[in-house]
Amino acid sequence: MCGIFAYINYLVPRDRKFILDCLIKGLQRLEYRGYDSAGIAFDGGNESPDVIKKPETKIVKKKGKVRALEEELACEKDMKLDIEYDIHCGIAHTRWATHGAPCAINSHPQRSDVNNEFVVVHNGIVTNYRDIKKVLESKDYVFESETDTEVIAKLCKYVYDHRENEDMSFRELVEVVIAQLEGAFALCFKSIHYPSQCVGTRRGSPLLIGVKTKGNLSSNFVPILYRDNRGREFQDDVAYNREAKETGSSVEENNKSTDSAFKRSFSTTDFEVSGDIKAAEYFFASDASAIIEHTNRVIYLEDDDVAAVMDGCLSIHRMKKEEGESMSREVQTLKMEIQQIMKGNYQYFMQKEIFEQPESVINTMRGRVNFKDKEVILGGLQDHLSEIHRCRRLLFIACGTSYHSAIATRQLLEELTELPVVVELASDFLDRRTPIFRDDICFFISQSGETADTLNALRYCKKRGALTVGITNTVGSSISRETTCGVHINAGPEIGVASTKAYTSQFISLVMFGLVMNQDRISTRSRRNEIIEALENLPNLIKEVLEMDDDIKKLAEELYEQKSILLMGRGFNYATCLEGALKIKELTYLHSEGILAGELKHGPLALVDKAMPVIMIIMKDSMYTKCQNALHEVTARGCAPILICQKGDTESQSKASRVIELPGTVDCLQGILCVIPLQLLAFHTAVLRGYDVDCPRNLAKSVTVE
Ligand code: UD1
Ligand code: M6R
Repeated sequence: MCGIFAYINYLVPRDRKFILDCLIKGLQRLEYRGYDSAGIAFDGGNESPDVIKKPETKIVKKKGKVRALEEELACEKDMKLDIEYDIHCGIAHTRWATHGAPCAINSHPQRSDVNNEFVVVHNGIVTNYRDIKKVLESKDYVFESETDTEVIAKLCKYVYDHRENEDMSFRELVEVVIAQLEGAFALCFKSIHYPSQCVGTRRGSPLLIGVKTKGNLSSNFVPILYRDNRGREFQDDVAYNREAKETGSSVEENNKSTDSAFKRSFSTTDFEVSGDIKAAEYFFASDASAIIEHTNRVIYLEDDDVAAVMDGCLSIHRMKKEEGESMSREVQTLKMEIQQIMKGNYQYFMQKEIFEQPESVINTMRGRVNFKDKEVILGGLQDHLSEIHRCRRLLFIACGTSYHSAIATRQLLEELTELPVVVELASDFLDRRTPIFRDDICFFISQSGETADTLNALRYCKKRGALTVGITNTVGSSISRETTCGVHINAGPEIGVASTKAYTSQFISLVMFGLVMNQDRISTRSRRNEIIEALENLPNLIKEVLEMDDDIKKLAEELYEQKSILLMGRGFNYATCLEGALKIKELTYLHSEGILAGELKHGPLALVDKAMPVIMIIMKDSMYTKCQNALHEVTARGCAPILICQKGDTESQSKASRVIELPGTVDCLQGILCVIPLQLLAFHTAVLRGYDVDCPRNLAKSVTVE
């Protein structure tokens, strides 16, 4: 996903070249997160900072790699690089497009106006940006980008221009602004009205601050400041002391200490990060990989913290004091290497992406599913819904994992839309020169949005006059651009070649589409409600399944020397078998096959004997009895399968050699929970076999050739 980096130096003289290099280096460290454009903002002009009161802010942005941004900066021939700043704030960003295609204008920093009075970098999605934009446009604010982020910068200016209190601080201004925002964000702000200050805040997206001071830190805590109902700031001394004493760094002790770098300034109501040697440098970043080369002392912000750096001091504020919450933020010492940080606590990107699924599915639904009113809105399809309702049939065309997401949701889409649903492999669809009509609606599902076969199928359908709809993870990709309309699945960049979180997000996007199509039907309201309730609870259930990782690893230890693994299931879980088998094939190089349990007697049963490893998926849905029959057929051939079943299904378990018990959800979403153990199994098996999990042999992340 996007990356934020900000660098603030206070009484540490740095020339512009150093500052720009530092910002660029910070962005390079965040490159691994995936991005499509980059930008920075810093103090511009060539006059000495000593003589100007309000330095202008210069923004440089560029589509493409950080390297391209660096080259763009190098082209700024008139910019003096040796100007020295005692105090300065620079902010930088790598953007993974969600709102608007990748291009310089949509890149961050976004700005409030042509004078760059307020600039902001943002990770996440502001879901109510359209409403804010409407209000601001009615007040003559002119927007230049397609981003949700621009409303934040414009809102800053609006609040600043309408402030009643002339002394409103930068941090107070940001607090007013973020109170208007819905969605998820990590933000860093810079302003010409608050020179060399930086404010950072988060809600749902991570943000941390690195601290580098000359003096030793004697405290490991930054106390939180609150505001009382008369607007005055206060800090809960008692609670803070209780908390801090546990590590021997209470307020009293801090203040006794003369070389304390974190000490209370009694001249203000603030607690500040200060020091006898006042010089300090601060680094805001989305993750520690951008900070670690500067300092290993970091503070992780919590949701709704607003952190402000002013005159070299860091303070952290919260609007409301909740019962039982921590009164301080700990300054932690990182002991990690950069490589380690990039993958978080994981060894591989694929593993990280599997474990990101509780969050990625939330991002797919964010701003689209209203759980309270049980409503689903897909903004990208809104204008085309009546045409879609009138169509002859729905076609879903894709390759590999993306194809499986359509198989997984076909039954539900037939149920909810009551339309004929056709699912096609893009290559075969093209080979057959499949007839397409003007009243067909053709969906193209693709994580990358660049898969050649899917793209060619799109062009083929377009030529024949069908309405084309994209389901893509990559804004600005060819499929996203060339389709008439569509849905961005917002799973975040997927770096591992094996698709994992994109599958579950595609799955959910298609379920949301079904729900949108069914919105006005009263007869199916209870079914809709059941599905929407299950969607709300899904992230928790995914977490529960992920906790079974150790058990799955043990299973992989039993299986990794086998030659072949068969996966059997039917109904909503046929696709799970296909997807599980694909993951096993591509990562472990073992033969693996997903078999429709209803087809067993028509051939595959001949493969089954005592020695053949079989995984069966049996869930408590309408296919339960039929799946039991398949289980009998398999056990009668001496095979004791590994069973993926619902918790407490003792009947099925009695016949299995091993059992993976999953929490139950509504039938049509169960496939999301069932696929996760198979993703983990493929992953652990590949590791045990010594293969490169993130880059399996002969495969590429984006297949741009036929
Ligand atoms: C918007 C946000 C999205 C956010 C959601 C809820 C944008 C661009 N996206 O999504 O990040 O989660 O609000 O707050 O503002 N499109 C195609 N082909 C595709 C995919 C999309 O043509 O393959 C088109 C859509 O028809 C639409 C635009 O791209 O016109 C944006 O799509 P999408 O991001 O899915 O729109 P929203 O659901 O409104
Ligand atoms: O980017 P796409 O979703 O269009 O890619 C389609 C397939 O190449 C892809 O899903 C592939 O099957 C995965 N590597 C499987 O994990």
